[in-house]
Parts: sequence; C-alpha cells; structure tokens
Amino acid sequence: MLLKSKPDIGESEVTDKRLWLDRRRFLAVGAAFIGSGAPALAGPLANVGKSGWRVDDPSTPLNDVTHYNNFYEFGTDKSDPAQMAPSFFGKAPKPWTVTVSGECAKPAAVAYEDLIRPHRLEERIYRMRCVEAWSMVIPWVGVPLGEVLKRFEPNSKAKYVEFTTLVDPERFPGQRGGTLDWPYIEGLRLDEAMHPLTLLAVGLYGEELLPQNGAPIRLVVPWKYGFKSIKSIVGIRFTQTPARTTWMKAAPREYGFFANVNPKVDHPRWSQAKERRIGEFLKRETLAFNGYADQVAALYSGMDLAVNF
Ligand code: MTE
Repeated sequence: MLLKSKPDIGESEVTDKRLWLDRRRFLAVGAAFIGSGAPALAGPLANVGKSGWRVDDPSTPLNDVTHYNNFYEFGTDKSDPAQMAPSFFGKAPKPWTVTVSGECAKPAAVAYEDLIRPHRLEERIYRMRCVEAWSMVIPWVGVPLGEVLKRFEPNSKAKYVEFTTLVDPERFPGQRGGTLDWPYIEGLRLDEAMHPLTLLAVGLYGEELLPQNGAPIRLVVPWKYGFKSIKSIVGIRFTQTPARTTWMKAAPREYGFFANVNPKVDHPRWSQAKERRIGEFLKRETLAFNGYADQVAALYSGMDLAVNF
C-alpha cells in the first residue's frame, strides 16, 4: 500500500502474476505429494451454519487466500505473512484476550472463547476488494460484529468503534521496524459496526483462521477497502470521535476514515475503476460499495463520498 508507487495491476504484470500464482499452485500441489502440506489449516470449526450472504462468483482458491496476504506485522511482501507466521505466531495463537472499553456500560477483558461462544457461527461468502486494485471472494466463518458489541451495552456517547491489533515484536517481526506506527488501528462509525454485513471472523473455508489471515479474530467489512478489515484484534473501544487510523497517519492524502470501495474516486496514484480478481486474467469493473450498495448506501445518504473518501 504505502511503499509502492503503483498497485500491481499493469497489463504486463497481470500475466506475470498469473504465471507466478500458477507456479505457486504447482509448488503447493508438489508439496502435498511429498507430504509437507499445501495450506495447512488450523483446525475445523464445529456447528457452522449457512447464511444468505453469499455471492455467486466462485471462491478464490484456498492457497491464494492463505498465501497472498497483506499483514505488515509480518513484513511488507505478500508472501511474508505465510512464510513468517508459522515460526513466529504458531498455528492458532491462543490463549487470546480481547479488551472491550470506552463508552459502554459493561467494559470487560474477555477470553476469545467467551467472546465467541454465545453466538452462532455462520459462513458468509463475501467479495473483498483491496485498495491496491485486486480482489478475492472468501468464504468467511464468523459472527455479526453488532451482536457481539451489544453485549457490552454501548452508551449514548458511543458514536464510533476503534479496533487495535496486538503489539508483540517477538511474534510480529515486522513490528521491530517502523514501517507503520504500531499498533495497527482501524475504526468504524457505530452504525457501520452494527450493520448486519459487518463480521467478526474466526475462520475461512470452514477452518479456524491461520495467522496470516488474522488469527484468531479479525474484522471483515466487505464494502470497504481491505485495510479496514483489521487482523488479530486485541482491543475494541467505543469512542465519541473517530480513531486516527494507521493508514490515515501513514498517508492522510491517500487513505481516509471511510474507505468505502468507490470506482469513481481514484487513489491519488492509481485508478480504482477496475480490479484484478486473483486467479483471473481480465480485469473486472469495480462495483460501488464493492457490490453491496443495496445494503449499505443508505448509511451515507447526504454525504459527499469524494470528500469523505
Ligand atoms: N491488519 C493488520 N493488523 N495489519 C495489516 O497489515 N492489512 C490490511 C488488512 N488488515 C493489515 C490488516 C490489508 S491492506 C488488507 S488488503 C487485508 O488485511 C488483507 O487481508 P487478507 O490477507 O486476509 O486477504
């Protein structure tokens, strides 16, 4: 995101990337044959219900979802998270505690299991669009964030929600340098956080999240650029004002608080009109709100989305 002058969407590069992905698939298949697994998943999740939230496009192959990642805590290359995570973070990082604080009646530090157990896990197949102009379709497993937040009884002063990722340079080698201002911070307006599409994900493809995808718990906001979907969350805070998020601090001209997928508002260094779906050859038109306009456009009525980008 920050470190590149252009996203990886140039015509010639599309072919290069495809060959690269094909090669990775070939290597993964080879690895499976010699017994040291292609994507080694963390463990199946029990009692996952289906939901009506599923796009028709085919899901992105698991190997791409788990090996083409942005997670700067592990490094800035797409391959760093999958390469570094097993040795630094283990397969399924637990015990894990999430601290919920700020403008609410019932602040608490809650073990991951207690945060999730009261809720019904469901699978939701969402389109995901990165600000770098590539996209995936991912079968997430999780619970609607709003249902979890309600348990902490946000008060009338709670207008926004701030999320933070764990800081632990022992387990996140990328945090030993100053690529970004740690901890990684993201935020939503309270109505966005309570929207039924907003998911607190704990798995994908029916299995627990691997570290590279934000284990053990992450946000998924499918109508916003991928950077809003913060990984490995340890803090949730109800606030009166919007958070100063990591990418706003790093490049305020390029990354705004809302970050809604908007093909009409270009990134200062590249167009957002099209995207490359990982695994596909031709570029696709990017859809307003990433295709979720019917569900979420009303949240922004009366706002100028070119100003509030
Ligand atoms: N969360 C943290 N803590 N650190 C990160 O670097 N990268 C973001 C987002 N969440 C990031 C993060 C970006 S830019 C994207 S596109 C998505 O994670 C990628 O999620 P995925 O790798 O599971 O597809």
